[in-house]
Amino acid sequence: MSKNEWWKDAVIYQVYPKSFLDTNGDGIGDIKGIEQKIPYLKELGIDALWLSPVYLSPQIDNGYDIADYRQIDPMFGTNQDMFDLIETAHENKIRIIMDFVANHTSDQCLWFKESCKGGDNFFSDFYIWQDAKADGSAPNNWGSSFGGSAWEWNDSRQQYYLHYYAKEQPDLNWENPHVRQYIYDMMRFWKSKGVDGWRMDVVTSISKDWNFPDNTRPLTTSNQQNGPRMHEFIHEMNQEVLAPLDMMAVGESPAAKSYDAWELVSPKREELDMIFTFEHMHVDRKKGDVNGRWAHQPADIVQLKEILSSWQTELFGNGWNALYFENHDRARVISRWGNDQEYRYESATAFATILHGLQGTPFIFQGEEIGMTNASDFTLDDYKDIELHGNYQQYVEKAQTISAQDFLKAAGKVSRDHARTPMQWDDTINAGFTTGTPWLKTNSRYPEINVAADLSSDRSIFTYYQKLIQLRHEEKWLKEASYQLLLPKDPAIFAYLRKFENQNYLVLANLSDQAVDLPKEIQDYQVLKTFIHNYPKEISTKLAPYESYIVKVQ
Ligand code: NOJ
Repeated sequence: MSKNEWWKDAVIYQVYPKSFLDTNGDGIGDIKGIEQKIPYLKELGIDALWLSPVYLSPQIDNGYDIADYRQIDPMFGTNQDMFDLIETAHENKIRIIMDFVANHTSDQCLWFKESCKGGDNFFSDFYIWQDAKADGSAPNNWGSSFGGSAWEWNDSRQQYYLHYYAKEQPDLNWENPHVRQYIYDMMRFWKSKGVDGWRMDVVTSISKDWNFPDNTRPLTTSNQQNGPRMHEFIHEMNQEVLAPLDMMAVGESPAAKSYDAWELVSPKREELDMIFTFEHMHVDRKKGDVNGRWAHQPADIVQLKEILSSWQTELFGNGWNALYFENHDRARVISRWGNDQEYRYESATAFATILHGLQGTPFIFQGEEIGMTNASDFTLDDYKDIELHGNYQQYVEKAQTISAQDFLKAAGKVSRDHARTPMQWDDTINAGFTTGTPWLKTNSRYPEINVAADLSSDRSIFTYYQKLIQLRHEEKWLKEASYQLLLPKDPAIFAYLRKFENQNYLVLANLSDQAVDLPKEIQDYQVLKTFIHNYPKEISTKLAPYESYIVKVQ
């Protein structure tokens, strides 16, 4: 059963529905808002939309806590709105990918409510229940990603249940075949409504080690990935649903390394089509630090090149890459690794050039195409993310391993909320996102940075993305060519050569805000054709800050 591999020629755009466009003035984006912007997305040229969760949810983790997989949350609209969106998208040749959150549900899901009743009802074993230790404490020392223990006591069952995320997000028990069938049926339901594929939330966490061994360090999450039956479960899902229904699947895989990624994405394994690695997103994190993602440091560009290159070479001919710098869990790349002030246009286009020149499917996160930035003035109260507040309690208040000041400084760089601020459409109140009060504060730079302003600028980031997407559609070599990293140790220049049918292509970016000389090794190439260049000048032996281009060379 081989699939139609449409994603290999595609660029996918992620919409965070809560923050995209609000059409009814309640301060929350909605499905009608997404439908209204289909012409905008068509203009950009993307091939598919991935929607973060829109299902019924108490929104403890912004929809990654699902109460009913077949019901659209009224806050986003109705099921009919969703069906209409799918139809309009399809009429415009845009595919729809939904978010598959099946490692856990909400504690408001009927399955969990029934499971809490204990005994031996049908749902008793839908979740992961364990007895307390003799002293009444949790079964082991596993931590939740959002801070504190991964176990929560339940009075009515007189047992603990496991939650890798918030206590309101109990983990499903994939060992139970009925759980798996319920999930597969949900997937069939959405396929019958026209959905084309899935982004699979922490799919590499679905299998647990039922010996429940302690982690080396208490309250950490090192147990969460690649459990003993992970491949078996994913393969089964592939055979039962993904392959027969021809649905694309891109899995979130926090622990995958380039050398073992093939086990999930090699076509002969019949598991997933692509995975999102986290490896390259950790190049600005102090390794092994107890404060996890809040142990922030400036990005190591040499390491970034090394990691992205290892994924290019390891998966060449043996799998397919999902390419991204931003999503709803990542801050804005130009604020993190680039320069979101005087070189905002240049650094946004430089990172875009590097990403879109690689082999794989590029993912654009809403607002990335106009160079949206982190919100630079957020106080602790302005942040709404449960992860940030849970981690603040754990690291700043309880363990006191980081000061409030350093935590907030790191949050200013890496908090997930920077991606979630309302989409900036124009310079009217709330950036044209809502006429009401937005659920999360609008970025204060919206009068300067917004879609309308970008489109009327002669240095439009949107236009640059449009051109990159067009290149992905027209230039076969972008899909097929081999990859070779140049200047591996250069701390500023990211340059690589791609070869296809005896032709050479050079993708290059100066990822620094200093002008640098083009090293001799690159000067030796003669430029035959320029596909894209982010400075209105000739390519020369000097690179301006964040200058980048894609050229054919010999
Ligand atoms: C990964 C999702 O991308 C993130 O937003 C969410 O908080 C966790 N998984 C839990 O579902």
